[in-house]
Amino acid sequence: MFSFPSFSTILILFLTKIPSFPSQPTPFSSRLLDSTLQDHAFQSFPHHRSKTGTIYTGNVPVNLTGITISALRLRSGSLRKRGYNGYKEFNIPKGIVENPYVKRVILVYHNLGNWSQVYYPLPGFLYLTPVVGLLGYNADNMTAKGLPELDLRAPEDPIVIKFETLKVLGNGYSPVCVFFDLFGGVVFDHVLNGSVCSCVTQGHVGIVVESSPAPVPAPAPEHVPEYPIAGGDGGGGRGGRNRGWWVGGSVAGGVLLAALVVVLVLWVRWCRGTKRIEKMTVAADHGVPLAVAAVGRAEVPVAMSTRTKPILESEYVT
Ligand SMILES: *[C@@H]1O[C@H](CO)[C@@H](O)[C@H](O)[C@H]1NC(C)=O
Ligand SMILES: *[C@@H]1O[C@H](CO)[C@@H](O)[C@H](O)[C@H]1NC(C)=O
Ligand SMILES: *[C@@H]1O[C@H](CO)[C@@H](O)[C@H](O)[C@H]1NC(C)=O
Ligand SMILES: *[C@@H]1O[C@H](CO)[C@@H](O)[C@H](O)[C@H]1NC(C)=O
Repeated sequence: MFSFPSFSTILILFLTKIPSFPSQPTPFSSRLLDSTLQDHAFQSFPHHRSKTGTIYTGNVPVNLTGITISALRLRSGSLRKRGYNGYKEFNIPKGIVENPYVKRVILVYHNLGNWSQVYYPLPGFLYLTPVVGLLGYNADNMTAKGLPELDLRAPEDPIVIKFETLKVLGNGYSPVCVFFDLFGGVVFDHVLNGSVCSCVTQGHVGIVVESSPAPVPAPAPEHVPEYPIAGGDGGGGRGGRNRGWWVGGSVAGGVLLAALVVVLVLWVRWCRGTKRIEKMTVAADHGVPLAVAAVGRAEVPVAMSTRTKPILESEYVT
């Protein structure tokens, strides 16, 4: 008997064709944000006698409330020789090199708080931590705006990021580290010691968990509760916090809806073809070779228009 290939098989075929996570064009450009935050972090240094090796806290524009930034100025030589332990979540190892070489660097720290999901949307994932970032700049001109980042690398030991707060989920969830470089690249990695990530270049890091198990119709879809981002220390209204998830949710929802529409169209076509395929099944029983065409990744027999019309079983029965 002909049986319709499982609905979920087709769904999965289509879902796997959705490109994973390239840097989607969003109205919230993370690079524009980097630039804005560089400018504001530099302004946090006292105009006279600002010290190297001291962490200064910056102010963000009102419309970015929820993000926190800091700036730390270090001599390149000292950074390379000693690293810097405990710059917020970041433990910077010794051996860091910057390119081009500068005498002093300013390391700008970002904690995107409730904006993490907005600037670094990851459809299908929930953030268990805020996204934090570390970017290096030339310290020569403390009033410079729109500075390009230096190319910072940790060729010996990796930069280690220790998150203090991590939303704890029930069993069955496996948190992963996600690292965003400055060029739109996204890398997933294991979480170490429960809440530690590492990276070898500058960029942004967070811990995420997959939020949407494969949306198969049956069994009943698992209910995944929405967890707010583990916000730094800011209070923040619940409504505001949930908005980030809402944006991510609607993106994921849109993708899913598109996939479903495609599947539905296929399904209708498939149903129309069922009768024809039944004919071919009969033909196959009688030893007539069948043409095979690729539908998705499954090979399905397809009737050739030139082939002689097969005799239907029903014609004998009735
Ligand atoms: C914040 O306001 C500035 C103007 O003060 C504007 O240029 C910028 O685009 C705004 N950013 C966001 C994320 O709304
Ligand atoms: C520093 O940057 C500011 C703003 O871009 C610029 O006006 C100024 O000339 C620069 N100073 C030096 C010494 O390059
Ligand atoms: C993980 O924890 C162990 C024991 O507390 C410690 O020795 C190790 O350095 C930690 N690793 C990281 C990457 O923090
Ligand atoms: C984050 O929280 C602040 C208040 O703490 C709010 O003003 C801001 O709109 C929130 N941002 C987002 C993206 O929800």
